[in-house]
Amino acid sequence: MRLDKFLAHTGYGTRKSVKELIKGKKVTVNDLTIKDGKIHINPEKDVVSVSGKAISYQEYYYFMLHKPQGVISATEDKVHKTVIDLLDTNDQVSNPFPVGRLDKDTEGLLLLTNDGSLAHELLSPKKEVDKCYEAIIDGIVGGKEVEAFERSITLEDGFVCRPAKLSVLSTDLVEQKSSIQVVIHEGKFHQVKRMFEAVDKKVLYLKRLSMGPLVLDDELKIGHYRPLTVNEMKELKEFTK
Ligand code: URA
Repeated sequence: MRLDKFLAHTGYGTRKSVKELIKGKKVTVNDLTIKDGKIHINPEKDVVSVSGKAISYQEYYYFMLHKPQGVISATEDKVHKTVIDLLDTNDQVSNPFPVGRLDKDTEGLLLLTNDGSLAHELLSPKKEVDKCYEAIIDGIVGGKEVEAFERSITLEDGFVCRPAKLSVLSTDLVEQKSSIQVVIHEGKFHQVKRMFEAVDKKVLYLKRLSMGPLVLDDELKIGHYRPLTVNEMKELKEFTK
């Protein structure tokens, strides 16, 4: 891997600022001062230091994002703000991408990583990863809908969903709204909204609470993100093994 890319990956800023570090003779590889950022190094063997401090290389990054409404689950877009735009520049250099999609108006848990094989495992239809959502529904949701979800919902395009656990948290008879939680096992486009449409109901608000073993940290404010903890990483690796 190129030295300048390695330094950018490890959080030493843009290629331009990395160039300045190198020009300023701040960077050594195996104790040799380097003048050219284009040289190739082996991140696993070579000891790269900046201002005398050895730096360690991390190939993969994993961030938990509390996605806000109004941003799209993509890496770039000419018109809309993306979830990647919410990351600090230093955290963008490893080229993370969202694992799966949440609609523009959906909030909640989104994993961002540059680990393609972990993402593939989590998104694989064969894995049938549980996803738990909280929603506000227009109208009163009751036993009829709970049973329909339990039996299995057929979407308007004929896709038959796996039985889903729908729980009614509360109903507001005055406002004619229901607060629910639902656990689904697939990741079809607009799936939760379409499942409710299949029982003639409309989702007014949607938030993802969990995906497989990963649970949205309730201390994480909307629009904020953090690296996964060692424990979360362990559980995720175990789950996708
Ligand atoms: N289901 C939806 O309808 N939208 C989402 O963003 C996620 C699941």
